[in-house]
Amino acid sequence: MAVVAALMFLPMLVGAETGADLWLRYSKLPESMATGYRKEAKSLVVTGNDATQQAAAGEIRMALRSLLGTTPTLSKGVADGSIVLATSSDKIVKDLIPGGLELSDDEAYVIRTVSVKKGKAILIAGRTTAGILYGTFDLLRRMQNGEDISNLDINEQPAYKLRLLNHWDNLNGTVERGYAGHSIFWNREESFEQLKDQYLTYARANASVGINGTVLNNVNASPEVLNTENLERVKQLADLFRPYNIKVYLAVNFASPAVLGGLDTADPLDENVQQWWRDKAAEIYKMIPDFGGFLVKANSEGQPGPMDFGRTHQDGANMLAGVLKPHNGVVMWRAFVYEPTNSDRAMQAYNEFMPFDGKFADNVIVQVKNGPVDFQPREPFSPLFGAMQKTPLMVEFQITLEYLGHSNQLAYLATMWKEVLDADTWALGAGSSVARATDGSLFGNELTAIAGVANIGRDINWCGHDLLQSNWYAFGRLAWNHQLSSEQIAEEWIRMTFTNDDSFVSTLEEVMMRSREAVVSYMTPMGLHHLMGWDHHYGPEPWTDLSWARADWLPRYYHRAGEDGIGFDRSSKGSNAVSQYFSPLREMYDNPATCPENLLLWFHHLPWDYRLASGKTLWDALVYKYYEGVEQARFFQKEWDKLEGKIDQERFEAIRYKFKQQTKEAIWWRDACVLYFQTFSKRPIPAELERPVHDLDELKSLKFDLKHHN
Ligand code: GCU
Repeated sequence: MAVVAALMFLPMLVGAETGADLWLRYSKLPESMATGYRKEAKSLVVTGNDATQQAAAGEIRMALRSLLGTTPTLSKGVADGSIVLATSSDKIVKDLIPGGLELSDDEAYVIRTVSVKKGKAILIAGRTTAGILYGTFDLLRRMQNGEDISNLDINEQPAYKLRLLNHWDNLNGTVERGYAGHSIFWNREESFEQLKDQYLTYARANASVGINGTVLNNVNASPEVLNTENLERVKQLADLFRPYNIKVYLAVNFASPAVLGGLDTADPLDENVQQWWRDKAAEIYKMIPDFGGFLVKANSEGQPGPMDFGRTHQDGANMLAGVLKPHNGVVMWRAFVYEPTNSDRAMQAYNEFMPFDGKFADNVIVQVKNGPVDFQPREPFSPLFGAMQKTPLMVEFQITLEYLGHSNQLAYLATMWKEVLDADTWALGAGSSVARATDGSLFGNELTAIAGVANIGRDINWCGHDLLQSNWYAFGRLAWNHQLSSEQIAEEWIRMTFTNDDSFVSTLEEVMMRSREAVVSYMTPMGLHHLMGWDHHYGPEPWTDLSWARADWLPRYYHRAGEDGIGFDRSSKGSNAVSQYFSPLREMYDNPATCPENLLLWFHHLPWDYRLASGKTLWDALVYKYYEGVEQARFFQKEWDKLEGKIDQERFEAIRYKFKQQTKEAIWWRDACVLYFQTFSKRPIPAELERPVHDLDELKSLKFDLKHHN
């Protein structure tokens, strides 16, 4: 039996793998799985010639050839073992399903086993061909996961209408906060033709998880992105992505009419400015009739915006919305704003945006980062969710690990995103989760969206770390269905990306499931935040003091460690950020005894000897957490080492190196934070814990491995 099992996975052991094929490897299934599937996939019936339907047909034929070793024949008639790709209005669907099919959403699909003469067939039907495409990838996923497909009755529709990647790619080819090489879109030495295969893989990967839009450039946008030459490039990409149901969007610089257009102002109420935007939109839509719209970072971190002209977010967003409205475009207006004048950065987006609730045009959606500060390893959810009830809001997650170890560490983020999406805002009483506050089910908004800042670059494995491909995958899956569990998503991804060997799957799944919490523990446990290098956001630098820098750039602003204790007092006795949350959260956060321990130092400044529910002092508990993080990293390394031989040696070794590095850096983090905070606490590290490996001076002068930086 053991021999049979080993033989079953033999092909996996010999093939060289680079990670370039992502989760679309379609490696040959073991015979035990393939035999059954072959009976269900003898022929393929495709009802139309639409490019999207043809993309689905091409994908399934290629995938089945590779998974099963046989290609289904193309056929006009449905017979036993047919897979049928059709839209719900096609006659064939009416023949196969008495009474026909009613699908409520343009991207919805069904996969059904239907009776046919002398047997059965699988119908994949969408209201539009986009549904067919998504249904096709769904069926392929099930097969790669070894699921029974003999009796299917699947009904799917997306949770959010717009499911977008945001690329922070600059026109010069660098990627802001990108750790996987240069931009795939801009300033390439290779021609578009040379990159076409890569773009197609990108489109297929996105379609396979339901991502239907991509913002091609950095939110810190160059006005030049709107020049005609760059728009030509955007058009080429749009044409290539269209069959995969992916729309392109651009981040725009609010000062474009002045900088690019030569006007003497970019005031949104100026008639010439408005005309400039109208002309630009007309130019774009002439080239790309289904262009998605604009993403805008305005009056944030030095970017221009309507406030430069005495106008408001409302004036700026609505002006652009008016320009895009005749073309069915949307404006995604970011709420990532903070000014050095306010005493608590975490409160600023709420203060600045709440006055505009209900005042935006209906094609504006406000894009809000998941937490109130900035993509930290753990933050509470942004209090804007649930609070802005008359304006559609979309969550912005960060797939790239800006604050969680770049592409050198593993933090599987589905667990973090679920924590945010499932968090109850209490806006309309219990059950008012962030997911429901944004997906239209709580406030009835028509326009719904979600965005993830991409972790993609020109590295051969796309993400700089093979295991971080899982975050791209997980973002798409959750954007489609936020009810999926992190475990399920991890398992699907592992099976498709590596192998169906159960022991491999369960070992890696466990490591992934623990990974984000491990990073929180060795970097910023118990609600601490922003302790990393103030500019590159990588290694620990809780000590940084720069006389010239803005206070809210520096870790000390956030941790506030002193002899009296540690933490940022956002309680009613402090900045009162707790007041931005609904009851009973507000009261719960306000009281250190009821505040969740994992956010304690986010909301409170507490003495080192403060007693926690466990009976431990705050100092001891904090130290234990840092040590726990390191133990987790060591555990990951050991678990991974056990998997040698179960997958290709190339990816195995590359990942082994990453885990080794992660452990080393976890120890740096632990020692740096514990030793630095100890200079204030003046309390010992509990005797049963190992002694720090480094001393503080050494850590302060350490140069972190920034080789993945652009
Ligand atoms: C963070 C990040 C910046 C980015 C900004 C944003 O501050 O460090 O690089 O531009 O977020 O989201 O706009």
